[in-house]
Amino acid sequence: MTVAISIGSGKGGTGKTMIIANLAILLAKRGKKVCLVDLDLGGADTHILLGLFEPKRTLTDFFTRRVDSLAEVVHTFPSLYGLSFIPGSGDTLQTANINFQEKQRLLRGLQDIDCDVLLLDVGAGTNYHALDFFMHSDLQVCVALPDPTSIMDLYTFLQLATIRKMLASFLSQSEVAATLKSRSFQSLGEVFELAEATQAGSREKAQEGLRYFHPLLIVNRDRAGGQVNKTKLRMMVGKYLGIDIPELGDIPEDDKVDRALKGFLPVCEMYPQTPASQALQAIAQRLDKVLSLFADKAPATAAG
Ligand SMILES: Nc1ncnc2c1ncn2[C@@H]1O[C@H](COP(=O)(O)OP(=O)(O)O)[C@@H](O)[C@H]1O
Ligand SMILES: [Mg+2]
Repeated sequence: MTVAISIGSGKGGTGKTMIIANLAILLAKRGKKVCLVDLDLGGADTHILLGLFEPKRTLTDFFTRRVDSLAEVVHTFPSLYGLSFIPGSGDTLQTANINFQEKQRLLRGLQDIDCDVLLLDVGAGTNYHALDFFMHSDLQVCVALPDPTSIMDLYTFLQLATIRKMLASFLSQSEVAATLKSRSFQSLGEVFELAEATQAGSREKAQEGLRYFHPLLIVNRDRAGGQVNKTKLRMMVGKYLGIDIPELGDIPEDDKVDRALKGFLPVCEMYPQTPASQALQAIAQRLDKVLSLFADKAPATAAG
C-alpha cells in the first residue's frame, strides 16, 4: 500500500522543499521505499536541493508526451538510500498552467508509482493546482513560519483547502455541486449554509467529508515567542474550520540549512547533528509511526 503525503503552505519560502526533501531521505534511510515528486508547477527547484542540476527527464516530458508513462521520468539516487524522485517541470507557461485532463493524467500516473511513501511538494499558494495536489494525498503536512503573517497565510490556505475538499464531496450530488460551483466563498459557514439550503442533509455530508482531514503542523525557523501564534492558529482552525491540526514538530532556525543548500546536499545528510537535522529526524520518526497506523487501518478503510 502506498501512502501519499503532501506538503503545503500559504506562501512560498516557508521551507516546504527543504523539509520534504530531508524527510524523503530520512524515511528512505529508515527503510521505506520513497518517491519524492516536485509538483511545484511554477517553481520547481527540489532537484537543485538534491544536487541534480540538469535532470534528464522532468514532468515537462510527461506533459508534452515525450514519454508515455510517469515511470520513465523517475530518477533514482543510489547514494541517498535508493530514494526515487520525479523532477518538476521546467517553468514554461504551458506546463505551469496544465489543464484538467493533464492534471488527471498526472494524478493517475502517480497512483501507478511503486513505493511505500509518495511525497508531494505541491508548491505554495492558493491556486487550484496547489490546493488539489495538497488535498489529493492521504495525509497532509502544512508549514508556517512563526510570525503572525505566515500563520495567517496558512490559515487562509487551510480554509480554501477545506472549502475545496467540501466542494469535492458534493461532486456526485449534481444539484448541490452546481449551486456551490457557481459561487465563490469567503468562509466555510457560507458553504455549509448554501449546501443545506439547496438540499437538506448536505451540511452533515459536508462535515463527514472533513472527518479525516487533519493536516499535521510544522512550524519552521522556530524561535522564542512562536508558540503563541501557533496556539492561536490551532484554536482558529478548530473554531472556524472545524478541523484539528496536530503538531508534527518544530524546526529551529539554523544557518546550517543554507550552508547545506549551497553544498547541494540536504542538511540531514551534510550536518546530521545540527539542531535542524535533529528536529527533522524526530519528525521523520513521528511520521513513520503515523505511516504504520495507516497500514494498520488500511483493511478497515477498504472494507468500510
Ligand atoms: N530552519 C531553517 N533555518 C534556516 N534557513 C531555513 C530553514 N528552513 C528553510 N530555510 C531557508 O529558507 C529558504 C526557503 O526554503 P524552501 O524550502 O525553498 O521554501 P519553500 O519550498 O517553502 O518555498 C531556503 O533558502 C532555505 O534554505
Ligand atoms: Mg519549494
